[in-house]
Amino acid sequence: MVGYSLYFFTYSTWKGRSVFMEDLYVMPEYRGKGIGKGLLSKVAQVGKEKQCVRLQFSVLDWNTPSLDFYITKGAQDLTASEGWHSLRFSGEALDKLASEAPED
Ligand SMILES: CC(C)(COP(=O)(O)OP(=O)(O)OC[C@H]1O[C@@H](n2cnc3c(N)ncnc32)[C@H](O)[C@@H]1OP(=O)(O)O)[C@@H](O)C(=O)NCCC(=O)NCCS
Repeated sequence: MVGYSLYFFTYSTWKGRSVFMEDLYVMPEYRGKGIGKGLLSKVAQVGKEKQCVRLQFSVLDWNTPSLDFYITKGAQDLTASEGWHSLRFSGEALDKLASEAPED
């Protein structure tokens, strides 16, 4: 194996089906050979075949090489342009929230 991408499908209320890329990784010794671009293009192709209108993913702010990689491929930085915050419930906060759910 030289690299992988992991993806799944999500839905926007207004835009419909999207493909979410959870991870894209190329082993260091194989980088710069077009493999990352190939994997990214493959996820885009799979998404298009499944009628997705977006390919969405998150990148940590310190990961500037990857940010640059995506931006040069035409990705839009939604944090910069639309101000989205990435939020998460986990641990006790998730337990508390789940325990407060109303009865079905
Ligand atoms: C990001 C990553 C997947 C790129 O894979 P790669 O195989 O090295 O990239 P490629 O060789 O396919 O590069 C494709 C194109 O992007 C460009 N590119 C690659 N790295 C770049 C960088 N740091 N800045 C600008 N452009 C870059 C290449 O020049 C190439 O351009 P071209 O299509 O015009 O020739 C790889 O560096 C990686 O696995 N990084 C660690 C894991 C990671 O951070 N993943 C992202 C998590 S969101």
